[in-house]
Amino acid sequence: MSKDSGTIVFALPGNEALAATLATTLKAPAGELTARRFPDGETYIRFHTPVAGRRVILACSLHHPDDKAMPLLFAASTARELGAASVGLAAPYLGYMRQDKRFNEGEAVTSALFAKILSLHIDWLVTVDPHLHRWHSLDEIYTVPGTVVAAAPLLAGWIRNNVEAPVLIGPDAESEQWVSAVAAIADAPHVVLEKIRRGDRDVSVSIPDPAVLRGRTPVLVDDIISTGRTMAAAAQHVVAQGLKPPVCIGVHAVFSGDAHQALLAAGASLVITTNTIPHPTNSVCVHSAVATAVAALKA
Ligand code: R5P
Repeated sequence: MSKDSGTIVFALPGNEALAATLATTLKAPAGELTARRFPDGETYIRFHTPVAGRRVILACSLHHPDDKAMPLLFAASTARELGAASVGLAAPYLGYMRQDKRFNEGEAVTSALFAKILSLHIDWLVTVDPHLHRWHSLDEIYTVPGTVVAAAPLLAGWIRNNVEAPVLIGPDAESEQWVSAVAAIADAPHVVLEKIRRGDRDVSVSIPDPAVLRGRTPVLVDDIISTGRTMAAAAQHVVAQGLKPPVCIGVHAVFSGDAHQALLAAGASLVITTNTIPHPTNSVCVHSAVATAVAALKA
C-alpha cells in the first residue's frame, strides 16, 4: 500500500452531482475519470487524475446494476492497481438486494453473489436504505464495512412540510421497517397492509382496519417502487375504501416500464421519491446525508 496522500472523489457517469457534494463536504478534490463504451459495447476506463497513495471514493448508484457494475469494478480495481491507498464506494442505491433467498430450486441468490464480487474490489461501502429483508444487515453478505444511511428523517421532513394530517401506510409487511421509522419521526400514525403477490405484476392488498384512516391524508411509503404494482394495488385499495387520494412515497425510484403511470392511474395524488435513482419524481435529496456518512468514516 502506498503513502496516504489524501482523499479524491470520482464520479461514474450520471453520478456527478453526488461526487460534487462528496468533494465539497470532504473538502477533497474531484478527479477526472473517463468511463465509456467502445463501439462493441465493452467498457473503457481511464483515470486522468493520479490516484497513487490517495483514498479514492467512487460515486456510483447501482440501479440497472448489470450496466453499471462492469465500469465500477474496472474503475475500482484499476485504482488499486495504480496504487490507491483505499477504494470506497458511495452507492445511494444498492442493486441486487431483493433476491435474498433461493425461492425455487436452482435459482441464484444474486444478493449474496453480487456482494461477494463487489467486496473483492472495494474497501468500504455507503448506501441508502438497502433492501434488507431476509438479510438483516449488509455484513451478512458484504465482507467490507457497509454504512447504511436512513432516508426516514428526510422523508419525514418532506411529509411534515407538505402533507396535512398524514397517516402513513406500508403496502406490505416488508415495508414495516421503513414506514414505522418515517412515521415515528413525522409524529404520524401508521398502518401496514396485507399483501399477496401472485406474479411480477399481479399484486393485491387489504387494509386491516380502514377506520383509523378516516379524515386523514393517506401517505403510502415503501423502499422500492419497481413495477409499481405493490403501491398501485395499495393506492387503488385506499381509494376504493372512500379515503382521500394517497400521496405515494418511495425511497428508490426504480420505476420499471409503466410504473409511474400505473400509480397515477391507480389514484395517487402525488408520487415522490428520493434521488438515490434519478427520476422526474425525485423531491428529496440524499446527497448531503450520504456525504456526511462518508465524512464520518473518514473521521
Ligand atoms: C418488497 O419487496 C419491496 O419492499 C417493495 O414493496 C417491492 O420491491 C415493490 O415492487 P413493485 O414496485 O414491483 O411492486
